[in-house]
Amino acid sequence: MKVFYHSKELNAFKNNNNTKAVGLVPTMGALHEGHLTLVKKALSENDIVIVSIYVNPTQFDNSNDLKNYPKTLDSDLLKLETLGDNIWVYAPETSDLYGKQVESKGYDFGLLEATMEGAHRKGHFQGVATIVQLLFEVFKPSKAYFGEKDFQQLQIISALVANEKIPVTVVPCPIVRHDDGLAMSSRNEHLNSTQRAIAPIIFETLQKVVALKGKSSPEQIEFWILDFFKHQPEIELEYFMIADEKSLQKISDLNGVQTRAFIALKLGGIRLIDNIKF
Ligand code: PAF
Repeated sequence: MKVFYHSKELNAFKNNNNTKAVGLVPTMGALHEGHLTLVKKALSENDIVIVSIYVNPTQFDNSNDLKNYPKTLDSDLLKLETLGDNIWVYAPETSDLYGKQVESKGYDFGLLEATMEGAHRKGHFQGVATIVQLLFEVFKPSKAYFGEKDFQQLQIISALVANEKIPVTVVPCPIVRHDDGLAMSSRNEHLNSTQRAIAPIIFETLQKVVALKGKSSPEQIEFWILDFFKHQPEIELEYFMIADEKSLQKISDLNGVQTRAFIALKLGGIRLIDNIKF
């Protein structure tokens, strides 16, 4: 494994070594098994995998969130080291990527951005798209790996690649869960033991939603979910919706489209998201 703090150094090394297939796994660090699964998949499909570790300021709409985002580079490097030699970590300072203009580009993602995370976190996807495009331009990976837990992010990045005609294959990777079903997330670390014990209710509820398919309409299921979470005092539901996987728009008629159920909630003030194929 090699660690670079400057993209120029990484690219010079890449050119000197005549590196062919490069996979990219963009992360914000605080790595868990979900990230490591992406890296393992990328290693199985590429000669070299670049793992970027960078907490991107432009995707935060809350300065406290940004300030409190865990920065655990040393332990992240230890975890990556166990996965093999062909990993190049890129852990830059802001100036190495953004120069002096630390701001988002203006993208038009239409309705894809207007819903769910885009609606609840102002400017979030503009910041995500900006940093991901920068990483694509700097490292020119053949493939880039993203988890389906952030399903809307995955669709936004696919739209970015199509709209900007970026020659990279976006590889979606299934959600990695703890044994009790909770989707892996850096935010889980903020849950205290009581909250952590409650958290599996999210996936249990999504599984119940799937079991209702064909028996109840999406509206009836949404109504049931709203009512269900009203009776969970520790949980503040932010949104639940059953949507077309491609457009991410709410559907009332399943009619052969690929659909997913999406949920976001706060548990003791910690914001958690999850989704399931419906
Ligand atoms: O999913 C994340 O961790 C971030 O949004 C990403 C893709 C690394 C961009 O900062």
